[in-house]
Amino acid sequence: MTRAGWSLVRPRWMRRRLEGPWRGSGSGWQWWLADPAGRRPAELFDDFLRQDSPQVVALRAKQTRSRWCYRIDDADTAERHWFAKRMVLPRHHRLGALLGVSHRWLGLTHGSAEFRHALALEQRTSLGVGMLALGEQLEFGLPTRQVLISSWLGDWPTLTSALLQADGTRRVQLLRALLETLRQLYRAGFCHLDLHPGNLLASPAPSGRGNCLPALKVIDCARVSLDADPDAAAAIHLGVLMHELNGKRGGIEPGLEQAGTRLLRAIIGHSRPAAERLLIMLLRYSTKKPFSRHTLLGRAPERLSLGRIEQTLEQMTGHRAAQASRPVMPSAALARAIAAALVSEA
Ligand SMILES: Nc1ncnc2c1ncn2[C@@H]1O[C@H](COP(=O)(O)OP(=O)(O)OP(=O)(O)O)[C@@H](O)[C@H]1O
Ligand SMILES: [Mg+2]
Repeated sequence: MTRAGWSLVRPRWMRRRLEGPWRGSGSGWQWWLADPAGRRPAELFDDFLRQDSPQVVALRAKQTRSRWCYRIDDADTAERHWFAKRMVLPRHHRLGALLGVSHRWLGLTHGSAEFRHALALEQRTSLGVGMLALGEQLEFGLPTRQVLISSWLGDWPTLTSALLQADGTRRVQLLRALLETLRQLYRAGFCHLDLHPGNLLASPAPSGRGNCLPALKVIDCARVSLDADPDAAAAIHLGVLMHELNGKRGGIEPGLEQAGTRLLRAIIGHSRPAAERLLIMLLRYSTKKPFSRHTLLGRAPERLSLGRIEQTLEQMTGHRAAQASRPVMPSAALARAIAAALVSEA
């Protein structure tokens, strides 16, 4: 098929929302722009892909997962930077990446899916980071490598680091900001399936005694559902976050379960026992791979066989190496801070 032929199978959202594709300096990559401001960093990254360039600095490498993160520097303006994430696509993700769909059989977590979800987040909420450009290298018409370029938030710590560094007042502010964030995701119908505290970035703490709420940004939007039951989505967000903040511990205090349930009601605005049961299960068990959180969205929370799922999770816990880590906030402190956040917004 010709290049023009292949571009016809690209999804409507890509052809409508993005400008492109254009080819740069002979690197063999093609680029789609979500914003004209993406042109400059895309050109700089394209140069780097053709031949190494000092304007692109590797931040860290995860060779096993074939993902790399970079800072792109603008040589003309010392303070101007962008963020780039490069990935190699396994064979079973390539068709999904071409068609721009996130699908169990065609590929769930390729760069096209992540870019599309991040754009949806930006459009529906104030939680997006500002997606600028999507680059791809094709082989036989299928994307094999992709790069996502976005605005630079280098001085925004992850929620984990922000909470670890915060005093009591700031912790409560961060939890209030988290509550607002989860409400925004709820209203937007956005279910992030990997919303651990490392995938939230918090605005830097003010130097003085500022009282304003920090802003939070949601990153790493590869695993997302845009048509989930919103109450189940809120339970998943909250369950994953609290399980991680509490150091991935199995046995948790009833006080933390109550605090979680109150927080869930504050997000969704009503009580829904099935979503609350789902939340409590997520608080108690790790739902990381090999478990798929997508399983929890297959049917309404009332129709999920929570007993069976819990048994599977129990077995998986047995097979995993001991997972517990030092809590970011131990359960009693987390329950107290949640209560304070709920009181302070009342
Ligand atoms: N826009 C940005 N500006 C600056 N740094 C960023 C930006 N987005 C992400 N980062 C940093 O890069 C890290 C990895 O980003 P991200 O979570 O998207 O990638 P990942 O490969 O899926 O990582 P992980 O598997 O650890 O979740 C983040 O924890 C954050 O520190
Ligand atoms: Mg991440």
